[in-house]
Amino acid sequence: MDLNEMDKFAKSMVKEAGHKIRHSFFSTIEINTKSNLNDLVTNIDKEIEQFMIRKIQQQYPAHRILGEEGFGHVVESLQGVVWIVDPIDGTLNFVHQQRNFAISVGVYIDGVGMLGYIYDVVRDELYSAEKGKGAYVNDERLPMIEQQSIHKAVIGMNARWLAPNRFQLQTQLFRVVADCRSTRSYGSAALEIAYVASGKLNGYISFNLSPWDIAGGAVIAQEVGAIVSTVTGAPANYLTADTFILANEVLHDQLLNEYLLT
Ligand code: IPD
Ligand code: CA
Ligand code: CA
Repeated sequence: MDLNEMDKFAKSMVKEAGHKIRHSFFSTIEINTKSNLNDLVTNIDKEIEQFMIRKIQQQYPAHRILGEEGFGHVVESLQGVVWIVDPIDGTLNFVHQQRNFAISVGVYIDGVGMLGYIYDVVRDELYSAEKGKGAYVNDERLPMIEQQSIHKAVIGMNARWLAPNRFQLQTQLFRVVADCRSTRSYGSAALEIAYVASGKLNGYISFNLSPWDIAGGAVIAQEVGAIVSTVTGAPANYLTADTFILANEVLHDQLLNEYLLT
């Protein structure tokens, strides 16, 4: 398996997809809803996923693809090579703001994240990593992330998780919010993971993410020393929706042992 060649292919694919998304700003976008009125999808999400799937299938016909909009394969195991793609992570931002969204791509081989990409289309910032070779934003290598305990930590989190009856660990989460330096919510899990990897956030917590939200970012963030898991400390789930937590080692340990598991 020539990972170097796959890396070049993936970078060129996400850049081309990003160009198409920027171009779509000049056209009328069709907006529909999925599981609820706030779960948006557009024709651009679908077109970009189809574009990436076509490209991957032309280049690597034996590889399988798990995509958010369902144009890929039904993937029930991570055996072999699996591309996990989210054509637009942060669709609500894409619709309302035309910024703060990203393309996310992860390549897993026998369940191990080998390549990861998060492309902030509007800022033209491509976060990328190959397992064991460090993480980059465009051509700049990202340094290892700092160890930061909760009192000095800025944590990415959606305030919706604090709404009454949303989540059984609500009390624990209130303590996290009270004790950390501050929280931020950007509305794109992929970007929030990229922000942990590049030191803009110290941690990120979510109680319902899908494989395509986290697959690319997990590869990138682990290359700079971040720890990823579910909120119970189990390995992050790249096959089905689950909880997700990502932070520097000190904060990850503290969040689990002093807050979420107590
Ligand atoms: C969503 C974003 C959002 C997260 C949601 C995801 P989408 O992805 O990552 O930040 O809170 O859980 O579904 O639907 O915009 O690709
Ligand atoms: Ca997503
Ligand atoms: Ca999406």
